[in-house]
Amino acid sequence: RLKRKPRSFISLQTLTPLEMKTIMRRGIEMKNRLGDFSQVLHGMSIALLFQKTSTRTRCSFEKAAVELGAFPSYIDWKTSNFVLADLSDEIKVLSRYHDLIVVRALHHEMLVTMAQESEVPIINGMCDREHPCQVLADFMTITEYFGENLDGLRIAYLGDGNNVCRSLVHGAIHMGVQVNLCSPERYALDDETVAAGKGLITRMTHPLDAVHDADVIYTDTWVSIGDEAETQERLAAFEAYQVNDQLLAFAPSQVLFMHCLPAHPGQEVTPEILRSPRSLVFDQAENRRHAQKALLEWLVHQ
Ligand code: CP
Ligand code: NVA
Repeated sequence: RLKRKPRSFISLQTLTPLEMKTIMRRGIEMKNRLGDFSQVLHGMSIALLFQKTSTRTRCSFEKAAVELGAFPSYIDWKTSNFVLADLSDEIKVLSRYHDLIVVRALHHEMLVTMAQESEVPIINGMCDREHPCQVLADFMTITEYFGENLDGLRIAYLGDGNNVCRSLVHGAIHMGVQVNLCSPERYALDDETVAAGKGLITRMTHPLDAVHDADVIYTDTWVSIGDEAETQERLAAFEAYQVNDQLLAFAPSQVLFMHCLPAHPGQEVTPEILRSPRSLVFDQAENRRHAQKALLEWLVHQ
């Protein structure tokens, strides 16, 4: 059992830029099978505690764990006693069984509490504020396409200033990448996150302006898990932010498309662009598995 307080990973902001780059570089090594990684977490177990639904996060962590020699244990929040007991007690108990705990939580504050109480690292598998594992895989994907030196790269983010958008901005700041942020005012990312970019992050009013100098266009669903009651007003508010051929006509011809998935083709992006050669969405999804192997190794062996 670890004697010192382990480092958790609930935000990209808790990594240094060098740490982020080191984990991504290792993720690429692991993807390319440059070594034997089957003993990295030999005999360990990883709890996967989910308060919301998931395909990619759950399955990529399960596969990553097995590839490193660890045993994944999925726990559905609703059928566990997290529904009735004290959060601090329950997470401390889980941390006596497992070596790492991945949590998809409704509220960021819950992750903060869990990281304080757990005796093993807590990994944010997405919450209302952030999705750091997604963005580790996203910048690993960007690195595969553009190389390690991302100076001058520009991402246009269109749509909801949500959890994925916030982590994307955290990641871009670490990587020195510029982001054009374009959202309806009501759904814009908070000023504090934007200001931390010290000029790297630019708010844009019009989608056409946001994409004109972009290397990558990134978008996410307009109705995140938990926002379903607002579906009609959200669909109306985001209508002009769809990634479609009319928008692409204003972007550089080689522009690439990214989305964390799950997507709603016909809403935030047309099905043709989502499934076109310029779309990196399946590489992003695959890279979740490899980036998270590197993350798991780093958290245990740092
Ligand atoms: N991108 C992502 O985290 O997908 P899931 O919600 O399916 O895990
Ligand atoms: N913003 C989305 C991301 C899903 C991976 C959500 O929170 O549902």
